[in-house]
Amino acid sequence: MTRTHTKIAIVLLITLILFQGCKTNSNGGEMSITSKPFGQTADGKQVDIFTLTNNNGLVAEIINYGGIVTSLSVPDKNGNFADIVLGFDNIKDYENDPPYFGAIAGRYANRIAKGKFTLAGKEYTLAINNVPNHLHGGLKGFDKVVWTSQAIETAEDPALRLMYTSPDGEEGYPGTLTCGVTYTLTNDNTLKIEYDAVTDKATPINLTHHSYFNLAGHDAGDILSHEVMINADNFTPTDKDLIPIGQIWAVEGTPMDFRTPTEIGARINSSYEQIKFGGGYDHNWVLNNKDGQFALAATFYEKTSGRFMEVLTTEPGMQFYTGNFLDGSNVGKGGAVYKHRNAFCAETQHFPDSPNKPEFPSCILRPGQTYKQVTAYRFSAK
Ligand code: GLA
Repeated sequence: MTRTHTKIAIVLLITLILFQGCKTNSNGGEMSITSKPFGQTADGKQVDIFTLTNNNGLVAEIINYGGIVTSLSVPDKNGNFADIVLGFDNIKDYENDPPYFGAIAGRYANRIAKGKFTLAGKEYTLAINNVPNHLHGGLKGFDKVVWTSQAIETAEDPALRLMYTSPDGEEGYPGTLTCGVTYTLTNDNTLKIEYDAVTDKATPINLTHHSYFNLAGHDAGDILSHEVMINADNFTPTDKDLIPIGQIWAVEGTPMDFRTPTEIGARINSSYEQIKFGGGYDHNWVLNNKDGQFALAATFYEKTSGRFMEVLTTEPGMQFYTGNFLDGSNVGKGGAVYKHRNAFCAETQHFPDSPNKPEFPSCILRPGQTYKQVTAYRFSAK
């Protein structure tokens, strides 16, 4: 090799090292996934933060504690980016905090009445962590465990695969449940979440994503002027503790009707009993999607920024929650104070309390079966 050849080889090697984890695509944008330490849990486990960037400059930051999306930066109609999910700056606040900001909820997202269910003749008892019911998997649900992680960079989109094996009996649930969640930030500006799981004993499962969105920005105040469309003719009415009563009611003629885009604030203080029970919206809509087809569940539009979010899912239900329990006691990223109704959640799911409601779509996973669910949050501006 001549000296020139050696120089070229060195330059090529350095270029390769510099651009590892970064790819330029046909649009000229750069997409990547990088990681760095985020902190340590109280019991000394290392937590990393992964930064996924797509070729349009959208950025999702995700930690392997709880699979939490800590930030999601998307452009408005003028191309200005803002972080549109609530969150904290450090692991300690995520560990101490109750609102499930950005997390994966499981094994069973939402409520199981009185923390009890019976499966194959055996009664199971779960923690009552939302008196008098069980909520989001219990005292240490999937939002509070450290997942193993693997950065995946396909030819097109940066992705992060998280894995967690929940031991038999964890939080009172039967069976060893081996779960995977893959977050992909696609180049059509979608945060896609694919869930899978297998078990060695029959067990209920219901995984969801619990980001608190504010399309004007995480620190932009209330979400009452966001316009919402929910692709659902029906919802599951609840008792005063938010447990479905087992019936399916039509949304028609009620403040639950979002079949045409309507501002969140238009009817949120209505005297309709269901709204009173929820302290606002905190209900499961029965999506018009049929038979696990991946279809549009809802859209959200914020007029001043022009940001528009579509939610697509394979799930039969969606919990639309308007941050009714936020009360200003959470101080989040950059000192932002998150107050009443400063964000909303769109939690795609099986219906709450399904383990006790044989009339609802089954949430039971059996040995030999694979649980799969796909949900996508797609962003644009107009
Ligand atoms: C879900 C529930 C709400 C609330 C939040 C977390 O959306 O339906 O009632 O518990 O989670 O604060």
